[in-house]
Amino acid sequence: MIQYKGIVLAAGSASRLFPTTLAVNKQLLPIYDKPMIFYSLSTLMIADIRKILIIVRNKDKKSFFELLGNGEDLGLEISYAIQKKPSGIADAFNIGKNFIKRDNVALVLGDNVFYGPSFSKVLSNAKKRQTGATIFSFPVKDPKRFGVLEIGKNNKVISIVEKPNNPKSNLIATGLYFYDNKVIDIVKKLKPSKRGELEITDVNIKYLNENKLFVEHLGREFSWLDTGTSETLLAANNFVNLTQRRQGSQIACIEEIALKKKWIVKKILRIV
Ligand code: G1P
Repeated sequence: MIQYKGIVLAAGSASRLFPTTLAVNKQLLPIYDKPMIFYSLSTLMIADIRKILIIVRNKDKKSFFELLGNGEDLGLEISYAIQKKPSGIADAFNIGKNFIKRDNVALVLGDNVFYGPSFSKVLSNAKKRQTGATIFSFPVKDPKRFGVLEIGKNNKVISIVEKPNNPKSNLIATGLYFYDNKVIDIVKKLKPSKRGELEITDVNIKYLNENKLFVEHLGREFSWLDTGTSETLLAANNFVNLTQRRQGSQIACIEEIALKKKWIVKKILRIV
């Protein structure tokens, strides 16, 4: 079976959070009681992905390394790569091609929080697909800000449009993507969009045109939060605080996940 490696994209200038993010990288900011990147890292860990590349800006590399090192304490193999300028989400596969080699790859945006029932089942459905691409949909009130999906019979994706003025549905593509190895070639040939970025939606359209784009639905019982603005960042903080306090359990405790998966033993757990 082809293995999946993982990429966390934690670059970008996060200008919508200025001045907070002028000196500090967004993905190092806290969501309640832990750094934001822990949440996306936990998503890859729940998918049983242990070889992970974190894409950062040059100036942030030292801080991320201080936080996560080579991943050994978590039973992971973490390496780092630099994105020199904000050239789009899909650029992650140009930057990461030597890391991906001949494997398949899951990409998660460093500012997306996923939390809900049966998440590991949903992720394993995606991982079982050895060819094609899988995206994860979620219903939102304001689809215009996202990649919007139109779904037809038999759960087929009919269209996917980036930030449309007239969204065809309230289902959007979240910041988590599973691809076969062809993604490297697709991105190599991709042209930048009007905003000068290599768009992940354009990659998904290529798979759609080949009839190879699959979707897993994260229903209304699920919680997906992005943290791009002060408003949504505050909402994510409140959500994690409230949920953890009520349930008495942790969201995105990466040490707990590693321990439960037996990737580490108790004695090497970091003491805080
Ligand atoms: C990006 C993608 C978009 C997706 C969103 C999820 O948007 O382009 O398709 O729905 O992430 O967070 P951006 O963050 O670039 O506005």
